[in-house]
Amino acid sequence: MPNVQPKVQLKHLTKIFGKHQKAALKMVAENKSKNEIFEKTGSTVGVYDINLEVEPGEIFVIMGLSGSGKSTLIRLLNRLIEPTSGEIFIDGQNITHLNKKEMLEIRRKKMSMVFQNFALFPHRTLLENTEYGLEVQGVPAAERRERAEKALDNAQLLSYKDQYPSQLSGGMQQRVGLARALTNDPDILLMDEAFSALDPLVRREMQDELLDLQANVKKTIIFITHDLNEALRLGDRIAIMKDGQIQQIGTGEEILTDPANDYVHNFVEDVDRSKVLVAENIMVPGFTVNVDNDGPTVALHRMSEEEVSGLVAVGRDRKFVGYITSDAAVKARREKLALKDVVAEMPVVKPDTLIADIMPIIYDAHTPVAVVNDDQRLRGIIIRGAVIEALADVEGDDNNE
Ligand SMILES: Nc1ncnc2c1ncn2[C@@H]1O[C@H](COP(=O)(O)OP(=O)(O)O)[C@@H](O)[C@H]1O
Ligand SMILES: [Mg+2]
Repeated sequence: MPNVQPKVQLKHLTKIFGKHQKAALKMVAENKSKNEIFEKTGSTVGVYDINLEVEPGEIFVIMGLSGSGKSTLIRLLNRLIEPTSGEIFIDGQNITHLNKKEMLEIRRKKMSMVFQNFALFPHRTLLENTEYGLEVQGVPAAERRERAEKALDNAQLLSYKDQYPSQLSGGMQQRVGLARALTNDPDILLMDEAFSALDPLVRREMQDELLDLQANVKKTIIFITHDLNEALRLGDRIAIMKDGQIQQIGTGEEILTDPANDYVHNFVEDVDRSKVLVAENIMVPGFTVNVDNDGPTVALHRMSEEEVSGLVAVGRDRKFVGYITSDAAVKARREKLALKDVVAEMPVVKPDTLIADIMPIIYDAHTPVAVVNDDQRLRGIIIRGAVIEALADVEGDDNNE
């Protein structure tokens, strides 16, 4: 366990909905299923015996299927729901028994919640929506206006401040939701399926935005999702829940390669590897020719030596230039041209491009795909076979590094 003060700590946190809590508790302790407990007692296990610590600055993802207790857990955390038993600590302070007024103060200063479906008021402008939380807290009008404008500005939404939510796309609305949650500059951001209603492209943008935000302001983020790919993308660590109980807490890597039990194993088996693996994971070095130095004869010699039909053209410092086919090199030699004059185009991706996004590119390409850094340096190439192989790969191949 970390030796820094955890931002959030939950100890034996349990929530049973319904009247016969004692009977229900006894049955969970006996490993009875949630259904069985409900049938016998009429009570529902919301969450049971949750123990976890979230470190400052961490994105902690809570993942599980619908009904597994994710929303209950996040609401217990800020005591929108009262626990049946167990304790909640924020910055080392036990908040389990704070009174209403003290709890309001904690919520005001330390945490903010972002919901699914944006939860914007349709009859309020963006600015008014953004101000809302501050208004409820009794922040004076001039100050809340200023803070709301600043938050919108940070989200690059200031120019839309007088528009109404219906005038904006879903993605924009969710960005307003995020901006609003940031107006009180909370340490902890609670996000309950915040991106689940967005279409895939916008969702990805929002995920990027959240990662940027987190890198810049270092909030502690507790992010709920039922989507494993989203969890893997965002989470420093992930907790997997089933029927109100945590099955495993670990990094994405740990959960994928070392699932704690059959449930987790089956859960992650279905993961779409094309949405987890990136270019860097499947690229190979690639044979190159330096078009600032080498001529067509050298290029042809290397092709025959390496038994390839083309080379990646690079310049000084391995800056990517394009692709030289054997036909082009032959032509250059015959017509006394420089290699530079016969360079062909080659598709380019970044090291962190998802395989899912590489597939359509590679499908259309006549050459391999170049993996190029932001500074234009060649990192490697991707050949069609490697993509297919990576997607066919199964679990248990973790020792062939
Ligand atoms: N207010 C409530 N009263 C009774 N049962 C509830 C209440 N809220 C949630 N539950 C039950 O608790 C379980 C966990 O629900 P929830 O936390 O909403 O799951 P998730 O967010 O993972 O979909 C479900 O079985 C749900 O029906
Ligand atoms: Mg939920």
